[in-house]
Amino acid sequence: MRKVPILVTCPKGIPAILKQELILYGFPVLAERIAGVETEGTLEDAQRLNLLVRTGHRVLFLLAEFKANNSDELYRRVAAIDWEAYVPEDGYLCVTSTVVNPTITDSRYATLRCKDAIVDRIRDKTGRRPDSGPERDRSVVHLYWKDDTCSVYLDTSGEPLSRRGYRKIPLGAPMQETLAAAVILATGWDGSSVFINPMCGSGTLAIEAALIGLNRAPGLLRNNFGFMHIKGFSSSRWREIREKAKQGIEKSLSGRIIATDIDPAAVEAARKNAATAGVEHLIEFGVCDFAETPVPDGGGVVVMNPEYGERMGEIAKLEVTYKRIGDFLKQKCLGYRGYLFTGNSGLAKKVSLKPKRTLPFFNSGIECRLLEYELYAGSKKNKKPKSAGSTPV
Ligand SMILES: C[S@@+](CC[C@H](N)C(=O)[O-])C[C@H]1O[C@@H](n2cnc3c(N)ncnc32)[C@H](O)[C@@H]1O
Repeated sequence: MRKVPILVTCPKGIPAILKQELILYGFPVLAERIAGVETEGTLEDAQRLNLLVRTGHRVLFLLAEFKANNSDELYRRVAAIDWEAYVPEDGYLCVTSTVVNPTITDSRYATLRCKDAIVDRIRDKTGRRPDSGPERDRSVVHLYWKDDTCSVYLDTSGEPLSRRGYRKIPLGAPMQETLAAAVILATGWDGSSVFINPMCGSGTLAIEAALIGLNRAPGLLRNNFGFMHIKGFSSSRWREIREKAKQGIEKSLSGRIIATDIDPAAVEAARKNAATAGVEHLIEFGVCDFAETPVPDGGGVVVMNPEYGERMGEIAKLEVTYKRIGDFLKQKCLGYRGYLFTGNSGLAKKVSLKPKRTLPFFNSGIECRLLEYELYAGSKKNKKPKSAGSTPV
């Protein structure tokens, strides 16, 4: 099978982590972009990526790249692609686009011309015309048009991969599943120590931690992807790819996952979401103020994702919460690596700990930070020098 460029998209801030994922799964990294990583492979490789990738949103398989200066040129070049080989004439097509071109003021126009070129070509070749519309649950084509260069992709994911399917009960401000996975991968937690998530909300971080700890591919939770609606899709080959991924799943975790929240409804939702993801038995849930969260001896990772607040009154209250988070980390989490994920850097300062690392992320378009704190057991000054074979905390 022919290898072509594949672009795995992701939110800004995540490409460095996504790149490591691709290397881990044996894919070459051809380029790192601001919101994605470029690799290459066959359509079957694109299926594997959809199954395995934790931090990517869409796996885009390149069909054609060409120059176009206006929408008529776009139509002609898109209509020259052999769409009848990919999109079923009795199927349903959705076209999405990202357009940065001075001749196109409304990207919906480019989307429409691209869609017309595809369905007109299929009608000319087969006598039938697929239906089209905004639903992304069947064949999806993505047009990327920047200046005079157009890239036309099969979107092999369809619905974004962030929609794992387990979050049936989202609450107030849930973290996107892919972002939660990126945060956990950034902490380096691998399932062998304790992962603590006070203020767990709908449980996204704890659930993603369980999937990572078990080495369970997130795509195993989904039963629909864009590639399933491309002509020639083999369900028996897809079953084999899934079975291979299942063989790598650990039977249990050697570490522990603890998730608490002060809101009983949040913990109930988190528990149900975890059950849908099949990992409820791996997470120790509790209803309590974050400061009462049990912190077992032995060290590990503690991740806090408090609200960031928008209105003045909220901010004043949150200042107290952030100061208490600092106290909790300093007094109760010694020997752990502490992390704070927040979209408000002013509030983060109230924690009064010096971050060892600060990583930029975006959550629903808001610029956020993941701050890492090393919480030494014993003051740093009194720390004994590491002897060979000692385990760093
Ligand atoms: C931004 S949400 C966390 C979202 C979560 N990461 C998710 O993906 O759903 C913050 C959570 O902190 C909880 N919370 C607020 N104050 C708390 C406190 N004092 N102790 C424990 N939890 C608290 C809220 O109930 C809310 O669920």
